[in-house]
Amino acid sequence: MGIKFADVIVDCQSGDTGKGKIANELARSGFYDIVLRYNGGSNAGHTVYHNGKKIVTHQVPVGVLHGVIGVIGPGCVVNLRKLEEEIKELNQAGVNTHNLIWIDKRAHVVFDYHVELDGADERIGTTKQGIGPAYVSKYGRTGVRMEDLEYEWDAKSLPYKIIDIYELLHEDLNEYRILCEGAQGFNLDIDWGDYPFVTSSHCTVGSVCLNGIPPRAIRQVFGVIKAYETYVGNNLSFTDQNDETFKRIQQVGNEFGATTGRPRMVNWININKVLQAININGVTKLFVNKGDVLRDVGTYKIRYDDAIIEYPEYELFKKALTNIFTRNRKELLYIQWSESPEKI
Ligand code: IMP
Repeated sequence: MGIKFADVIVDCQSGDTGKGKIANELARSGFYDIVLRYNGGSNAGHTVYHNGKKIVTHQVPVGVLHGVIGVIGPGCVVNLRKLEEEIKELNQAGVNTHNLIWIDKRAHVVFDYHVELDGADERIGTTKQGIGPAYVSKYGRTGVRMEDLEYEWDAKSLPYKIIDIYELLHEDLNEYRILCEGAQGFNLDIDWGDYPFVTSSHCTVGSVCLNGIPPRAIRQVFGVIKAYETYVGNNLSFTDQNDETFKRIQQVGNEFGATTGRPRMVNWININKVLQAININGVTKLFVNKGDVLRDVGTYKIRYDDAIIEYPEYELFKKALTNIFTRNRKELLYIQWSESPEKI
């Protein structure tokens, strides 16, 4: 009871692959009753186009734009001040959020001191949103959860509701169709990413189960990648930043952070890493975004088994990638190339 099924969106690279667009389109289509955010916090930045306007959400699950309930799950950390600002901005942009933003009572709270501590980070190149320190408090068992704050509030005056996600998912008589919206990506996962240049949460499908969704409820796993790769942070071995083609891709693809405005470093798609992400997440459908950017730049390369392979034409590049990704991967049934910032 409570769950009809859950579909999951996971990023199979280093974040910024266009998950927000996919989540937005799926939620808009009326396929889901709930969009659940299962990891991270205000470090995320999901850019979507809504009624012709560009909107960036950080903590609010994207379905709220379409009247779909957004739940911030126990795997997330929440900065309440920033959440309230974000809700206000959405309201000013004409989005009705009334009764639509729910936070599980187990989610941990990000305080100003977490943000201050993170502000001193020079090692990882974080988004300085206090995420690492907040998860340190959580796992050090000194954190404060939403339920610990609740008694201070007049619940009616809050622009969000505190819930018990167990009751929602397992005791509610309704059967909800749930879309789980991931943040960050495989290479930033605390276990599977390029440690220590990672975030402090789990960015793989396993994280969904940690939020109260049993494995058997998961129906589809939508993997999202870009036709090339970007990364923001201090792992300077990621790429050659003086490469002129990468600079062009950065400009044409508008590769600047949605949360921090930092330029994103660019490299060719790392096939071996994407295959790992497909396998570990059990991806059933793969969305490939921003092929149009490579097409506009006119250079098509991949990194595969320590070699760089170049294709003379976009169509050949697409065909090669599709072959590589589907070969021997029985679960991966479908690949969709998306060549517009606004549509799937
Ligand atoms: P943190 O999550 O702010 O601690 O940052 C850790 C690493 O993850 C840094 O390299 C960030 O740039 C990166 N990161 C965090 N959130 C995002 C995101 O939403 N997109 C891309 N990179 C991110």
